[in-house]
Amino acid sequence: MRKKIIAGNWKMNKSPSEAVELCNQLKDKINADQADVVFCVPFVSLVPVQEALKGTKIQLGAQNLHYQDNGAYTGEISASMLKDMGIQYVIIGHSERREYFGETDSIVNLKVKKALEFGLTPIVCVGETLQLREQGTTIDLVRYQTKIAFDGISSANAKKVVIAYEPIWAIGTGKTATKEQANEVCAAIRQVIKEIYNDEVGEEIRIQYGGSVNKDNAKELFEMPDIDGGLVGGASIKADFVHVVNY
Ligand code: PGA
Repeated sequence: MRKKIIAGNWKMNKSPSEAVELCNQLKDKINADQADVVFCVPFVSLVPVQEALKGTKIQLGAQNLHYQDNGAYTGEISASMLKDMGIQYVIIGHSERREYFGETDSIVNLKVKKALEFGLTPIVCVGETLQLREQGTTIDLVRYQTKIAFDGISSANAKKVVIAYEPIWAIGTGKTATKEQANEVCAAIRQVIKEIYNDEVGEEIRIQYGGSVNKDNAKELFEMPDIDGGLVGGASIKADFVHVVNY
């Protein structure tokens, strides 16, 4: 049985003091006993949020990292810095980073490798645009993205990775994929992992759905056989997140 994982992607929202306020609103109401619950907050809020969540089971994630160990990369954050702080998760290759910051599949692969090297759990995002869906290439694209993201990664490490299937047309739009659409693509991603590695890795790896998940649709999506939880944007920075997690 795969343990569900529900992660909030706060994106570029909430100042550090607002972040602490939100944590204080949410933390006692969220049930993190049965599922992994992760708050992926902006870098500057990692320290205050870590302090605010002390004594809870809620885990912390960053939204990006650099693939080099250190050096002249102004404005970047390394895996070793995150590890040293006690951060457990890091989102890699979110569609917004691919679109606005030029992240390619090869860069995603380098980042996944670096995260794993430092014992961080990558949440690797894949997903298609509306145009690609309409052209019937969704499965081809997510297979391609997944194959490159996992290039050169051992089966022991692959099992630790979380994949987030996020159709770009569903992100922040209020248009959710149907549970059947979401499950179909998550199953296809699981299949490609089985092809790269073996059935065991494919059965163990956790695959989330993301894209306009909210308190009203979380249950039906997360109960689908190939969907192991969600990566949640808008609804993760509201009191509603309690209902998404406790579905
Ligand atoms: P959304 O964002 O829930 O606001 O659609 C999801 C994401 O981008 O991870």
